[in-house]
Amino acid sequence: MLEKIQETAAFLKDKMHTHPETAIILGTGLGSLVHEITDAYEISYKDIPNFPVSTVEGHSGKLIFGKLGDKDIMAMQGRFHFYEGYSMKEVTFPVRVMRELGIKTLFVSNAAGGMNPDFSIGDLMIITDHINFFPEHPLRGKNIDYGPRFPDMSEAYSKALIAKAIEIAKEKNIKVQQGIYIGTQGPTFETPAEYKMFRILGADAVGMSTVPEVIVANHCGIKVFGISVITDLGLEGKIVEVSHEEVQKAADAAQPKMTTIMCELINRS
Ligand code: HPA
Repeated sequence: MLEKIQETAAFLKDKMHTHPETAIILGTGLGSLVHEITDAYEISYKDIPNFPVSTVEGHSGKLIFGKLGDKDIMAMQGRFHFYEGYSMKEVTFPVRVMRELGIKTLFVSNAAGGMNPDFSIGDLMIITDHINFFPEHPLRGKNIDYGPRFPDMSEAYSKALIAKAIEIAKEKNIKVQQGIYIGTQGPTFETPAEYKMFRILGADAVGMSTVPEVIVANHCGIKVFGISVITDLGLEGKIVEVSHEEVQKAADAAQPKMTTIMCELINRS
């Protein structure tokens, strides 16, 4: 495992002429951030040794290096989901490679169903914490020496970055919610009973990604900031049929707000 990570990192280092300490996973709602990247150069996942290749609609697979403002960044366009059939090791492989490349902070986005009664479709939710509801843990197995066998998760999402993001949202007059994201395997959306269960468990929003990458980032000592775009509601009386297309549509509508917050935050951090 470690050899593979190091082999991939060595391949990338050889191609890189920048030294980013900031990485972004361009999940749903953040696709248009690529247009803000200057001096960009790209490497397709298919050309990177040991990298899984992404398959899901709306996600094309490549690493994009360049600048956001005056900050060197590395962006993942396309992520790997557990529901696609990838193992947890594959889902989180790129985060471990990031660690080898010297990444210190990771920014993530996703689409999620809202269970908090104060939420509306199109809201942005700054992730303050998560619940891991995936059936397999990404750190299961031999511990890689990037971090301890039993990693602390008391601040999985950087409090300092959350505070800065709230400040930015205020300045820019963008409404943001805050809440707990529960990560589940999918690919089904929730039944009404499942949404209710997740609410009882203490979550504000549910989605099918992010938690594995965030766990591994924490294990590697990478700080994390995440935002969910609320694309549908899992609230009794408000539950309607959901489709991937509708999720995408709601996420696209919220995209400019999400991009503004992320870009500002990355520049100020
Ligand atoms: N559930 C799970 N994943 C999701 C949802 C949802 O309601 N909306 C967007 N991603």
